[in-house]
Amino acid sequence: MTQADLTPLGDMTPEAFRRYGHQVVDWIANYLSDVGQYPVLAPVAPGEVRRQLPATPPARPESLEQALADFERVILPGVTHWNHPGFFAYFAITGSAPGILGEMLSAALNVNGMLWRTSPALTELEEVVLDWLRQMLGLPEGLMGIIMDTASVSSLCAIAAAREAVPGLRVREEGLAGRADVPRLRLYCSEQAHSSIEKDAITLGLGRAGVRKIPTDAEFRLDTEALAAAIAEDRRAGWQPFCVVATVGTTSTTSIDPVPAIASICRREGLWLHVDGAYGGMAAIIPERRDVLAGCDRADSIVVNPHKWLFTPIDCSAFYCRRPEVLKRAFSLVPEYLRTAEGEAESVRDLMDYGVQLGRRFRALKLWFVIRAFGQEGLAARLREHIRLGQQFAAWIDASPDFERLAPVPFSTVCFRAHPRDLGGTSEEVEAHLNRLNEALLEAVNATGEVFLSHTKLNGRYTLRLAVGNLRTTEAHVARAWEILQEKIAQLAVPAS
Ligand SMILES: Cc1ncc(COP(=O)(O)O)c(C=O)c1O
Repeated sequence: MTQADLTPLGDMTPEAFRRYGHQVVDWIANYLSDVGQYPVLAPVAPGEVRRQLPATPPARPESLEQALADFERVILPGVTHWNHPGFFAYFAITGSAPGILGEMLSAALNVNGMLWRTSPALTELEEVVLDWLRQMLGLPEGLMGIIMDTASVSSLCAIAAAREAVPGLRVREEGLAGRADVPRLRLYCSEQAHSSIEKDAITLGLGRAGVRKIPTDAEFRLDTEALAAAIAEDRRAGWQPFCVVATVGTTSTTSIDPVPAIASICRREGLWLHVDGAYGGMAAIIPERRDVLAGCDRADSIVVNPHKWLFTPIDCSAFYCRRPEVLKRAFSLVPEYLRTAEGEAESVRDLMDYGVQLGRRFRALKLWFVIRAFGQEGLAARLREHIRLGQQFAAWIDASPDFERLAPVPFSTVCFRAHPRDLGGTSEEVEAHLNRLNEALLEAVNATGEVFLSHTKLNGRYTLRLAVGNLRTTEAHVARAWEILQEKIAQLAVPAS
């Protein structure tokens, strides 16, 4: 920044801010319209970005022109473009224009919503917008909604509340380590549940042994008979079951656990039911897909991620809890300097009481903008289109003699692999060959820079995944991905051995 851009001992001048601000907004507008022209996966080697950056900070002011130029020269080539219409990896996401504008205003206000008092509008908008989202999802009234950064943290809070709900544990006061007076706690989820559940258990001192992974059926859904048997077996062996995590839209295949049956088991066994709908739960916004959240009216908590499949810039995870008083009991700890009359009187909600973090960004603003800009029907139409594109891709796979689908497609994510005809050898040899072939295929497809797909393993099989979820993805982009896959498989000659 030149000295002329700065006030003495202060910030940038308003004139300079306006000039650079317009420049940045212009840059963003161009980026959003041209993002498809960048290589989707950053074509850089490890350390390449860092090597181009000075190891020490500037002692004197530098021009913002220079910083913006370096952003384009050094940073941009090292960016994997999640906004690219050819981004089909993991779960594709979108920084939509209304969401980006909400982020800008949130950065400008820079409020910290730790207490209602520290920004009443933050707290109250968060409450209202999450209630809007609840209604859009068809979830019951009376759920308290709060925004967390990620589903990993939402689930952490759910599991902490589940533990707090166990009578007589006194974990808040006594902790768990070294205590002979408490049984080992056990949480249940399917083998297909997201790794964050296990990570949360590690964080909460339950250990990986505190998570029992229940087998799934042929369609990768939690087997409820196996769940009931595992709970009974654990009780006999002296474990204390306390929580079940069901998933609506598992990470690998997007399978939907049978939540109604799981809810009945939880009711009977007195266990907390948490539903991880980080990706798939959002489909309930489509009126004819409300069924994906069937049974969730009986859940104690549920997470859905607007930053995954609701066009809201990362990060924004919506956490709902039916028993906020338990969540509060698990987390609330108010030092003197944070005491307020309205907080003590409980006439307001201080959001710091419902999770780990004290400081809180104004995330509701971007979600509010997104919901208002697209409307419930517009959001549903966009999600419906993504599902149509996913189904279209699945139909191409099904019709091809050289590819096969490896899981059902309940949403917009397709699991598949190349399986050329007439491969010789034993079934083990064929499977090993297919694993190598598909790994090489993924590398080749991603090296084009036009599309980015990711992989998983299903029943030992190397599986490619194509997930549609970006607002800028059209049928032409999905068709191009399919074309590239066919071109590359035709070129690949991995010898069977
Ligand atoms: C089902 C499911 N739950 C949780 C997560 C973790 O999400 P986050 O990155 O918001 O922690 C993922 C990530 O893809 C997921 O697929």
